[in-house]
Amino acid sequence: NAHGTQTRGSLIVIEGCDRSGKTTQCSLLQENLTSSGYSVKLMKFPDRTTVIGQMINDYLACKQDVDDHAVHLLFSANRWERVSMMLKLLEQGTSLIVDRYAYSGVCYTAAKRGFDMSWCKQPDIGLPRPDTIVYLTLSSEAAAKRGNYGEERYEQTDFQKKVADNFAALTEDSWKVIDADKSIENLQAELLDICKETIKRSSDQPLYKLWT
Ligand code: TMP
Repeated sequence: NAHGTQTRGSLIVIEGCDRSGKTTQCSLLQENLTSSGYSVKLMKFPDRTTVIGQMINDYLACKQDVDDHAVHLLFSANRWERVSMMLKLLEQGTSLIVDRYAYSGVCYTAAKRGFDMSWCKQPDIGLPRPDTIVYLTLSSEAAAKRGNYGEERYEQTDFQKKVADNFAALTEDSWKVIDADKSIENLQAELLDICKETIKRSSDQPLYKLWT
């Protein structure tokens, strides 16, 4: 900045149901921002590379059954084990593009019988609060055109509808809700603008804590 002091990076989260194109868009954001000279790191949750992430992976691949409460806490623990690294990078001026975060955690578990949003939020309270949350929406018709769901747990139409309803209920005014039913290029252009605007706006702002 003008004073030559180090400014922090931005925490940008991209959320959405399965098949909304999140992962493709996040990789493109990293490429495009990096080639424009921004310091950016891509992260994704669940992060399947850790020991907890391996447990989550086995659960999702239906290789292992885990109690619904316990798996909810594993997803949350998998975020907490990355917090110190995230804070360090943000402090160093690197912006983080994060593919799914605590909002997925809440909306997916709360789509199960017997769970409410308030219980689901508890373990993620206090995580770094994103500077921007983008929520990619996709109508079930548009989603159907993208082909069949894969083999993983949760990849069924009825369950995804419940997840989408939960996202709609969780959305706060500050969320950027974007219809993902457009070309990869057009969606990318929109997201790129949002990221650049966020990095500019938040560099001298404090980083808050989630749901506090
Ligand atoms: P992925 O397809 O983005 O790797 O996510 C795997 C699945 O895990 C996806 O169906 C969403 C779900 N999920 C949760 O249930 N809780 C969470 O906290 C996260 C991050 C993902």
